[in-house]
Amino acid sequence: MSVPSKRDVFRKDLLAGRTALITGGSSGIGFGIAEVFASYGASLVLTGRDEQKLAAAEERLAPLGTPVVTVASDVRDYAATQAVIAQAVERFGGLDILINNAAGNFNCPFEKMTPNGWRAVVDIDLNGTFNFCHAAFEALKASSHGGRVINITLAQGVSGWPGSSHAASAKAGVTALTRSLAVEWGPHGIRVNNVLPGPISGTEGLRRLYEDRGEGEKELSRVALGQFGETDDIALSCAFLASPAGEFITGCDMTVDGGRWLKRQWL
Ligand code: HXC
Ligand code: NAP
Repeated sequence: MSVPSKRDVFRKDLLAGRTALITGGSSGIGFGIAEVFASYGASLVLTGRDEQKLAAAEERLAPLGTPVVTVASDVRDYAATQAVIAQAVERFGGLDILINNAAGNFNCPFEKMTPNGWRAVVDIDLNGTFNFCHAAFEALKASSHGGRVINITLAQGVSGWPGSSHAASAKAGVTALTRSLAVEWGPHGIRVNNVLPGPISGTEGLRRLYEDRGEGEKELSRVALGQFGETDDIALSCAFLASPAGEFITGCDMTVDGGRWLKRQWL
């Protein structure tokens, strides 16, 4: 008997009839979520700033046969965000799932960080998540499946993150937003959860925060399971939360990190 792949765990039509919007869906974990959601039948709206990256992502998804709309926009721009939501609703008749994945990060000691460097990351990670949640509310409320918001955060938003204090602070804010909205939006049937990835191989995040700085091996030694994750590990957790199996889950932190948060020796 052949060993089933991770994607075989769920049925092929798991997300059929649903529309999912993924911010930063053109690369890395966001693209991984797009691929998995497309393979389960969801219609997709992907955002990012770079049109060429979006076009390449659309081309890679084409063989999966699901409708994909890409919109170049910056999550920091509220008016542009409203336009993205309007486009999603116009094209697909509604919105069921919002994944706030876009983020910015760079390693920098706090005392060397400029106010603009701090602001750039907080604006993308925290204010960008505000923008999409706020603009998507009416559409998510109208979802016949019960709207879903999945915010991609980090365990370092709880532990703190020496060298990335801006990202840790922004993700802590997102974590608090998730928990607040889970309660506020419960009466509207909207489930709001965090997914916390550990280090995921082949991503820009792992590259710029660890590998490019010669810290890849050290980061690997912090993972209890002794391996980096795959984008599918994160995407399949998101698929579960977005599916009918996630109906009674809201306000949770789904940590998908190989036990990295427990074994986090910083020095
Ligand atoms: C110090 C830096 C810097 C660096 C930028 N800045 N990079 N400071 N060290 N390496 C400063 C700039 O000098 C500027 O401040 C301010 O930040 C804004 O920079 P811009 O380039 O003008 O901003 P912008 O074009 O908006 O780009 C945003 C960005 C960029 C965050 C700086 O890196 C970006 O677009 N990143 C998106 C992709 C990304 O980061 N992916 C990884 C996510 S990983 P001054 O004062 O000079 O004007 C993640 C978790 C990873 O979140 C976990 C791994 C396990
Ligand atoms: P990535 O490959 O750099 O992807 C980031 C995506 O967001 C890209 O599509 C990027 O496209 C887009 N983006 C960035 N800034 C944007 C902005 N201002 N407006 C709109 N789109 C923007 O990053 P990743 O490593 O996959 O990380 C994805 C998420 O997972 C982030 O939330 C990150 O914090 C989290 N995470 C990652 C890891 C990891 O190991 N990689 C671990 C824990 C948590 P453009 O550049 O074209 O805009």
